[in-house]
Amino acid sequence: MAVIYFVMGVSGSGKTTIAQRLSELKNIPLFDADDFHSTENKAKMSAGQPLNDEDRKGWLDTLNKLAIKQSHADGAVIACSALKESYRKILTQRVPVDVRWIVLMGGFELIHQRMTARVDHFMPAGLLTSQLESMEYPPYGIHIDIGQSPAGMMDLILHNESLSEFGLAGLGVMGKSLARNLGAHGLKLSLFNQHVAGKEENVALNSIAQFEELRSAKGFDLIEPFVQSLSKPRKIFLMVPAGKVVDHMITALLPYLSPGDIVMDGGNSHFKDTERRHEALKSNHIHFLGIGVSGGEQGALTGPAIMPGGDEVAYDSIKPILNAIAAKDHQGLPCSTYIGPGGAGHFVKMIHNGIEYAEMQILAEVYWILKKGLGFDNEQIALSLEEWNKKSAASYLLEITYKILRHKTGIDYTLDLIADLSGSKGTGSWSLTAAAELGMSANLISESLFARFVSSLKTERKQAASFAEIEIKPVAITLDQLYEAFELARLINHHQGFEIMRTASEQYGWNLNLSEVARIWTNGCIIRSVLMQSIQTTIIGEQNLLVAQKQAVGEQRAALAQVVANSLSSGIPIPALSAALNFILAYSSENLPANLIQAQRDFFGAHTYRKQDDPYGISYHTEWE
Ligand code: 6PG
Repeated sequence: MAVIYFVMGVSGSGKTTIAQRLSELKNIPLFDADDFHSTENKAKMSAGQPLNDEDRKGWLDTLNKLAIKQSHADGAVIACSALKESYRKILTQRVPVDVRWIVLMGGFELIHQRMTARVDHFMPAGLLTSQLESMEYPPYGIHIDIGQSPAGMMDLILHNESLSEFGLAGLGVMGKSLARNLGAHGLKLSLFNQHVAGKEENVALNSIAQFEELRSAKGFDLIEPFVQSLSKPRKIFLMVPAGKVVDHMITALLPYLSPGDIVMDGGNSHFKDTERRHEALKSNHIHFLGIGVSGGEQGALTGPAIMPGGDEVAYDSIKPILNAIAAKDHQGLPCSTYIGPGGAGHFVKMIHNGIEYAEMQILAEVYWILKKGLGFDNEQIALSLEEWNKKSAASYLLEITYKILRHKTGIDYTLDLIADLSGSKGTGSWSLTAAAELGMSANLISESLFARFVSSLKTERKQAASFAEIEIKPVAITLDQLYEAFELARLINHHQGFEIMRTASEQYGWNLNLSEVARIWTNGCIIRSVLMQSIQTTIIGEQNLLVAQKQAVGEQRAALAQVVANSLSSGIPIPALSAALNFILAYSSENLPANLIQAQRDFFGAHTYRKQDDPYGISYHTEWE
């Protein structure tokens, strides 16, 4: 991958000399930002007047365009003062490759002496004071003391160049795949995995030996050399189990980190933990990003959907890397985007998983209706679902379902050999709690989660089944009705998930772009689907999915009601489909019996109530007895 080097510092700090040497060494073109100043700017500076932000705007834009252009060529070394963080933002915006900053630092005396010795330069020495006053040295980049010889400075730069660009800690299934993905994109990697005698020994070195993409990586099982092997600002991606392990890793890394380093958590961490860690590391001037990664083992290897949240400045510096390894949408854009500050990335990933829970449960119920209610065998179910997958209901989860149904172990269908016990790791129940905290309905997620809990009561279920003796009767529905019910339940599930995110965004001030969230979920992630592609265009602004698709909702509601009523009376539990029907009926009812709930609350607790059609929202109370 091409690299853009910015050699920055005030006028007279020796940018041109270092940039020249670097360009010769790397064999990439050199550009001196001074050559890009307008004649007006040059005249102003020659007259001893410092440039202001407005004067520099056009110049910075031109240099930014140059950096983008060179990103698609051999890269570049650009010598540029880049005095302020806001200037550096302009210089690097939309630059699609790695940007490295070489920061030349020195005191007034030394630089002034050098400037007065300079001939043929439009910048008078008198402007140095204003330059030094404006200079905001970045916490990132390779910081070089210009008091040393150019050769010494080059040694320092090269030493940093010999270091790895990116560190990944935790080489479990996902970590290993992600490392291979990063390696395949030409990143210089350092890999870390803990040493656990007899269990996890030489994991990093073994992975490097095993996978071609990791051949140039460095492997470690000790934290200190792992951190020291990384160039500054260090970029360390944690792929360790969510929970205490993340805190342990951060504590272990901290003594070796420097201000400006970036720690990223790519696991399924709780967004509140991410906010806490973000705040804690801020006081050490360490950036912390909570990054949702979806796509399982295969996705991590070939392109996951990536949901980064946290400091935007830190995000900007790893953006090219995330964009490179992410899946691509149908327009070729990366399925990765800055989600928002603090824990926003992990919140969005959590809701992704909440939606995933309900998508899986709906599919499980469809499978059960087809099997128990319509008497289909595994092959027939697979065939029907494969047909559905050619239509608007197509999704990754539907695709893997019919593949699962066809899979055999010996003469048996593998699915029939699997115990009916479904586990969960946390994101489903967190989604539910988060929705409740925001006062939002998530009844599909809750039913899907509780269905997993009920499944775990195998012994009790066995006992209860022996005395309940429920005999499942054929379900009187058509395949088309089931398809329509399936589509509507999925739409309602997605509606709930997106509305939870909309409310969270308002409540927590995240400014989430829901259409962009849908876009990055159109590929790479577990809930990618044709529906997600249409959500990308419908969830713009205030519009919610059920309103946007009101015609389809109206047409499919009768089918959902038929499927739910008939399946239930036939003895088939369908908690998610029922929840979808209940939700859409309540959501579409102008009047609900909530008046009674409120009257009861007022009766026993004087909680007050509001009156029908009262535009003022006045609270009333009745002495009921
Ligand atoms: C993904 C998956 C992934 C993981 C979940 C499953 O997006 O790649 O959702 O995050 O498989 O942990 O959650 P449960 O184990 O709770 O089902």
